[in-house]
Amino acid sequence: MHTTQNPDVWMNGLFVPWDQACVHPFCHGLQRGSVVFESIDCNETINGKAAIFRLREHMIRFENSAGIIGMELDYKLESLMHAVIDTVARSGLKSCVIRPLAFYADPVMDVYPGDASIMVAIGLAESHEPPETYKVTISRFHKIDNACMPVKAKVSGNYINPMISKTEAKKAGFDDAILLDKDGYVAEGSTSNIFIVENNKLITAPEDSILLGITRDTIMAMAQKLSVEIIQEKFNAERLKHADEAILCSSGKEVTPIVQVDESIIGDGNPGTITKLLRSYYRDIIEGHVADFEDWLTYIQ
Ligand SMILES: Cc1ncc(COP(=O)(O)O)c(C=O)c1O
Repeated sequence: MHTTQNPDVWMNGLFVPWDQACVHPFCHGLQRGSVVFESIDCNETINGKAAIFRLREHMIRFENSAGIIGMELDYKLESLMHAVIDTVARSGLKSCVIRPLAFYADPVMDVYPGDASIMVAIGLAESHEPPETYKVTISRFHKIDNACMPVKAKVSGNYINPMISKTEAKKAGFDDAILLDKDGYVAEGSTSNIFIVENNKLITAPEDSILLGITRDTIMAMAQKLSVEIIQEKFNAERLKHADEAILCSSGKEVTPIVQVDESIIGDGNPGTITKLLRSYYRDIIEGHVADFEDWLTYIQ
């Protein structure tokens, strides 16, 4: 990102110029990864206004993530949502990625944060078109397990596992890594949920070993409208490799077709029919074309 034109950062209720939004290098959040965060998309809609997609659901997950790691936020849900809206409105941006963070901001050497103060910060970054297609590899690392880390918390410390997996995947010429759970079933992409299509049915990993993605939930709602059956069940890497279609989804990736898993080509190597349908429906929703899902859009006035 360029530093000259970057929008101001909201920090505990104050707007701070991007270049002055600083923390102590020994703050607990930086040392231990005790940073709760979200990634939320804001898009330009058909009426020319910016709209944040599923803001409430993202900020509920933000609060839940904090609760799971025992971090007590000083802000209620509505205040957090307003802070996000104010940050976007102030920037004048029509489309962007919104990144709220909450972290222990005091320098603390112990793993126990004690009564360290908590900083909530909201920053914006440039948004990009979702990828056209993805080639993925199965990671040699398993997805972190609920028995050691709370997988439902979107907390930075959980992301070293997918960071290493994706770095290895990139080095091997793939776009992303797929992580299996401890029993060898497909769990997630590095920062995305996964669906396969078999016989015109959508299948996705059940809730236990994954981050509950808001895009995953959106896909399930779209599928219902389109009368596409959804099954939540465990499936292994072989089933993924032999699926008719496969999808990675997240707020940034939206609905991204997987066209290759290691040496296996998915379908005919091009995005499949259901994937294409969901991808364009998703775009229509976030751009405000679909009245049934207008409630998911928070317009910036
Ligand atoms: C581990 C993980 N799984 C799934 C997702 C997808 O979540 P969402 O659709 O809410 O962006 C993310 C998003 O970053 C993620 O980090």
